[in-house]
Amino acid sequence: MTDPQIKLDDIPVHVAIIMDGNGRWAKKRFLPRLEGHRQGAKAVRRVVEFCRRSGIRYLTLYAFSTENWNRPEGEVSGLMKLLSQFLDSELNDLHKNDIRFRTIGETNRLPDTLVEKIDAAKSRTENNKSMNLNIALSYGGRSEIVRACCKIAQAFREGQMTLDDVDEKYFSSMLDTAGIPDPDLLIRTGGDIRVSNFLLWQLAYSELYFTNVLWPDFDDDVFSAAIQDYKSRQRRFGMVPEIKNSPWDEE
Ligand code: IPE
Ligand code: IPE
Ligand code: MG
Repeated sequence: MTDPQIKLDDIPVHVAIIMDGNGRWAKKRFLPRLEGHRQGAKAVRRVVEFCRRSGIRYLTLYAFSTENWNRPEGEVSGLMKLLSQFLDSELNDLHKNDIRFRTIGETNRLPDTLVEKIDAAKSRTENNKSMNLNIALSYGGRSEIVRACCKIAQAFREGQMTLDDVDEKYFSSMLDTAGIPDPDLLIRTGGDIRVSNFLLWQLAYSELYFTNVLWPDFDDDVFSAAIQDYKSRQRRFGMVPEIKNSPWDEE
């Protein structure tokens, strides 16, 4: 495996990942889907470590969508158990490495014991500064936007703000990702080319990278390839590229 040697000035500040393909990884090996999720948890450990080593400050991982609640009960409860085990086994290391842990999504729908563990992990790591790990759990971009609208309506009803206060910055501050910069790079594994209700607002100007690699197989080499590809992109944000001596330049 290659150790990432990435220049600090052009690496993405925030990488978001749709970790897809656990089920297919297991199916190919005639294993239960849950085994794919178990291997997927190992890949999570690898990407956190990769980001820590390469100076990527924010990592947001899509672990469970609002739509994933519609999966068979056994898979849902197995995933909840895995998430809980992940916190049990990783929290000390996350804290030791100065990583702040947060979640985005409708966490109130998660089992009480998991919510308690999440809350404890958030408060234990809230002053950590080196890196930020955000896990999207019971997360849907549409739900997040609707909940933000409700928060704004509530604040308006209570007279805490006026409609003139509502702009993109204010709206962003009402999202679950308040205070977190928008992702520079979105990676989706598993071969599908869609966003599946992930960070709909925040992805407005993210660079998108899709790979056929299934999530449990995602390693440092695949991650490095995504970063190299990102570094080759020209981000214009709707503006014109800076070309020296362009015939279009004004005198
Ligand atoms: C992603 O893997 C993990 C979750 C959505 C929880 P999948 O379980 O969607 O795997 P595939 O897409 O069926 O292979
Ligand atoms: C997206 O994967 C959600 C997560 C990775 C948590 P899905 O497997 O649920 O997405 P679709 O159904 O292929 O769009
Ligand atoms: Mg999938």
